[in-house]
Amino acid sequence: MDLNNIKQYAKEADEAEIQVNLLKQQLEILKAGTATDPELTKLQAENTKLKHRLAILNKAIMAQSEEKGLQSILKTLHNLFARAITNACPDIPEAPIDIALSAKFGDYQCNSAMPIANLYKQLGKKISPREISTKILENLPANNLIEKLEIAGPGFINIFLKKQFVLQAISSIFNEGVQPPALKQKKKILVDFSSPNIAKEMHVGHLRSTIIGESVCRLLEYLGHEVLRINHVGDWGTQFGMLLAHLQDKFPDYTIKSPPISDLQGFYKESKKRFDEDEDFKKRAYACVVKLQSFDKDHIKGWKLICDVSRKEFQKIYDRLDIKVTERGESFYQTRMEKIVKELKAGGYLEEDEGRKIMWGDYGNVPLTIIKSDGGFTYDTSDMAAIKHRLEEEKVDWIIYVTDGGQATHFYTLFGCARKAGILNEQIHRVDHVGFGVVLGEDKKKFKTRSGDTVRLIDLLDEGLKRSLDKLKEKERDKVLTSQELQKAQESIAYGCIKYSDLSHNRNHEYVFSFDKMLEDKGNTAVYLLYAFTRIRSIARNANFTSEQLKELAKTNKISLEHEKEWKLAKVLVRFSDVLLKITEDLCLHHLCEYVYEIATTFTEFYDACYCIEKDSSGDVVKIHVGRILLAEAAAMIMERCFDILGLKPVSKM
Ligand code: ARG
Repeated sequence: MDLNNIKQYAKEADEAEIQVNLLKQQLEILKAGTATDPELTKLQAENTKLKHRLAILNKAIMAQSEEKGLQSILKTLHNLFARAITNACPDIPEAPIDIALSAKFGDYQCNSAMPIANLYKQLGKKISPREISTKILENLPANNLIEKLEIAGPGFINIFLKKQFVLQAISSIFNEGVQPPALKQKKKILVDFSSPNIAKEMHVGHLRSTIIGESVCRLLEYLGHEVLRINHVGDWGTQFGMLLAHLQDKFPDYTIKSPPISDLQGFYKESKKRFDEDEDFKKRAYACVVKLQSFDKDHIKGWKLICDVSRKEFQKIYDRLDIKVTERGESFYQTRMEKIVKELKAGGYLEEDEGRKIMWGDYGNVPLTIIKSDGGFTYDTSDMAAIKHRLEEEKVDWIIYVTDGGQATHFYTLFGCARKAGILNEQIHRVDHVGFGVVLGEDKKKFKTRSGDTVRLIDLLDEGLKRSLDKLKEKERDKVLTSQELQKAQESIAYGCIKYSDLSHNRNHEYVFSFDKMLEDKGNTAVYLLYAFTRIRSIARNANFTSEQLKELAKTNKISLEHEKEWKLAKVLVRFSDVLLKITEDLCLHHLCEYVYEIATTFTEFYDACYCIEKDSSGDVVKIHVGRILLAEAAAMIMERCFDILGLKPVSKM
């Protein structure tokens, strides 16, 4: 049920209720008088209709609490309180519905009474927040998730969850698997991420975009959306002019056989040097751009060769990190750029500025450069063409751009121009720039190698592998694991820790890249979590239960929630959907990292306090607490889901 409609429904339900009562009164009066009045039959019919409407509205509110799988607790509470608040405060139509997780006093809390009291004050009515809270509680509809409510302090309402509700939610995992929260509306979403530039280094900034973008895609796909993963590579523009001119000199027969440009970086540097020093070369380079952009056969051939070399390098990184992304670079938009430029000209959106053609959006004080003074197109032009193609041709509902924070202005200006040109309409579209901070070295300076060069990503991944193997050897795991197991563990840890340390930091901040930190086995790190997970999984294994058996056991055995620590863990587990919904709002994946970490630490508290398998002094099993093993398994299943979104690959032995 649509959250935004719930207040409206509640209001309609009340109006219907009032009318039913009014009609009832009239009916009574009429019954007492002339029983044959034709008005009476009409009124009776209306009365039935209204009662029916009221029933539908109430059912709609209740239906949501019967959703499958792990429903959003915050959403359900929000709906219940929206209904209660609308009834309790009919004269405050804009009453805020503020429900939050409670750190201390209850499980959740409603903080609406204080702001509502202020709104009453503005109307000249003096009502205390505690009085308002009392009224809200009187109007709270019957439900299956609240055990107890308390009014506290100035007027907070503390909400305590029912064990039965939590129990059912967790049991559902064994029948249905870990299900995402029910989707309001399936969306078509384009995530523009990774997007390195051909012939140039794919640097740590692109690594961040790749890691964050991949996780955003995984999250949205898990929620049930249709996701287009797009690699907007820089494969067009001036640098190709110089690369092509250089290629023609160095490998004149490139149209017949592939040149060995294994060192594309070096090749790029050489051509750049010539471009900066040699006027003739520069002219030829510009001529090459013109030829390329008019799709001259030989130029396209050379361009493809260069792109292929880069593409192979990028793919190595993607394969290692298990990244799926479809290349659709700037070149794809050439004809669309020509088209949109015409349209923008015709629409009168372009302004002359020292030979350039610029466009101002409805946001900010930087314009886009649509045509350069030499007549060429820019990064801005390709993004205007791309946003139009995505929204109008591909008809996506939502575009997410993942790049470093430095490009925020570019994207906000782009959105502003697209809005102005009638391409973007935020009533039906959503656009986000998911920015991130720069990567720093351990010396808190720009991330560089010791000799001051930019770090090659492949080298970085290799170092990760080496470091994680060292770590495993330090723990003498090489003595217990087979060489295959060891290699799996090594890769899981190396790539897992690189991804996790990126995702676990608030993406808006800069972040310090440190293998030492990310490979620590304490604290909120991938290593800690992967170990914690393996340990949890081993509990059921030690009791000799297969996952099939656990499924069966869950049908007849109650998950144990009696102990305070069992209850605490269970309440963390049922927050899963709310965490995912929050990330859908702000696209900050560190919330998910904090959440899995909370599961792991709460699990430890539970495991320290509650035996799952009891053994006697000789090590023989005397008791198996199936209810606890089920709770542990539920924790493992939710962690596994989170790992999948974060791109972490747990291994059974490490
Ligand atoms: N290639 C660009 C860069 O390296 C990122 C492209 C991002 N996507 C876009 N549609 N502008 O900075």
